Amino acid sequence: MSQTASLGLGPNDLESYWMPFTANRQFKSRPRLIVAAKDMHLTTADGRKIIDGSAGMWCVNAGHCRETIVRAVQEQVARMDYSAPFQGGHPGQFEVGARLALMAPSKLNHLLFACSGSEAVDTALKVAIAYHRLRGEGTRTRLIGRERGYHGVGFGGTSVGGMVNNRKFFGPLLNGVDHLPHTYDRSKMAFSRGQPEWGGHLADALEGLVQLHDASTIAAVIVEPMAGSTGVLVPPKGYLERLRELCTTHGILLIFDEVITGFGRLGAGFAAERFGVVPDMMTVAKGLTNATVPMSAVFVRNDIYETFLAAAPENAIDLFHGYTYSGHPLATAAAKATLDLYQEERLFERARELEPYWENAIHGLRDCRHVVDIRNIGLVGAIELEPRPGKPTARAFDVFLKGFDRGLTFRITGDTVALSPPLIITRSQIDEIFGILREVINTVD
Ligand SMILES: Cc1ncc(COP(=O)(O)O)c(C=O)c1O
Repeated sequence: MSQTASLGLGPNDLESYWMPFTANRQFKSRPRLIVAAKDMHLTTADGRKIIDGSAGMWCVNAGHCRETIVRAVQEQVARMDYSAPFQGGHPGQFEVGARLALMAPSKLNHLLFACSGSEAVDTALKVAIAYHRLRGEGTRTRLIGRERGYHGVGFGGTSVGGMVNNRKFFGPLLNGVDHLPHTYDRSKMAFSRGQPEWGGHLADALEGLVQLHDASTIAAVIVEPMAGSTGVLVPPKGYLERLRELCTTHGILLIFDEVITGFGRLGAGFAAERFGVVPDMMTVAKGLTNATVPMSAVFVRNDIYETFLAAAPENAIDLFHGYTYSGHPLATAAAKATLDLYQEERLFERARELEPYWENAIHGLRDCRHVVDIRNIGLVGAIELEPRPGKPTARAFDVFLKGFDRGLTFRITGDTVALSPPLIITRSQIDEIFGILREVINTVD
């Protein structure tokens, strides 16, 4: 019996669902269906175990189906399934808010909740523009992103994003957006371990944008402290520090999009902590609930929050923004249990301790066929392959398919293989992942 038939799916049942960011024809001709997950592994419909080299989509940081999180969500749904978040609340929202504020860099003690990274990004961009307006600087509406950036798929995030395929189909996008150059130059930084030595000066491009547009028109700069979805671009030494300095000088808000880097991925609570650079706002999602229930958050600097509250007349709403599912009770239950687990198992520290082992293991693939660069930081790594002539992305896609057949899954973007395993990974599982990858990369054309 075929995989789909054994699941009770008819021959055409795969057709209706239009899968996101997916080669639908390819998938539907040879589906990779997952039916169970536990710790480091997924189980396919035909009963094979697959080691998860990417923590789902950089999100299952504590490993799959962890009992305490599962139980917390089950108990919550039985007790209270939903409560309205506008002009109302439930204790879980305040508890998670307070705990996150304690974890965040000081001065980022207030948070908004949303459901996805995309929503968190659009929320942060809107808050930035409104904040300037409330302070009497309503001309500051321009948003600055970065080439190769990924900030989700809302119109705001798409506009400040810098991955061409994510932008080019969708019309003019937002007005008044500009982009910093990306920080990658293979000729200067190939096979860097951790932060590249070269490239810190690229942050000075912000000075050029200020010269062009004038600071009085610029609301915010948004960057991923480590660009993930474009293929793991680690910030060059000094880059984030310089960006911080320039934003402060010109009264521009600095937003770190930590949707991937938050919650231990770089061996610290947040990239802000790892790099010692504090933004004015910070977006998080994914690892916040270990991906069990969708949830995201925007951390805002204290005085931003206070500006909104002070500007609102008595009994009037202070921010005209929010979602039906902001701080959903299932999400906050999952977040609480997830934060407990991170603490109990010291998973952020564990990621930092494993980093040298991970780094040596991934750089061990330098001699494989097609490999033109390897990059890493925290428990993240990327192996960049030379594209097939005239067929960009085809080689990495083959590696992905063969890897899956061999019992490993990971992310691919362009011709880059991206890895970000759950932080519970063991040394022998690191060896297993790179053993499979070595074999697969060496066997694709
Ligand atoms: C940095 C960053 N921002 C935003 C997003 C969008 O998150 P979501 O897919 O939850 O909307 C992602 C997703 O990968 C991301 O990596």
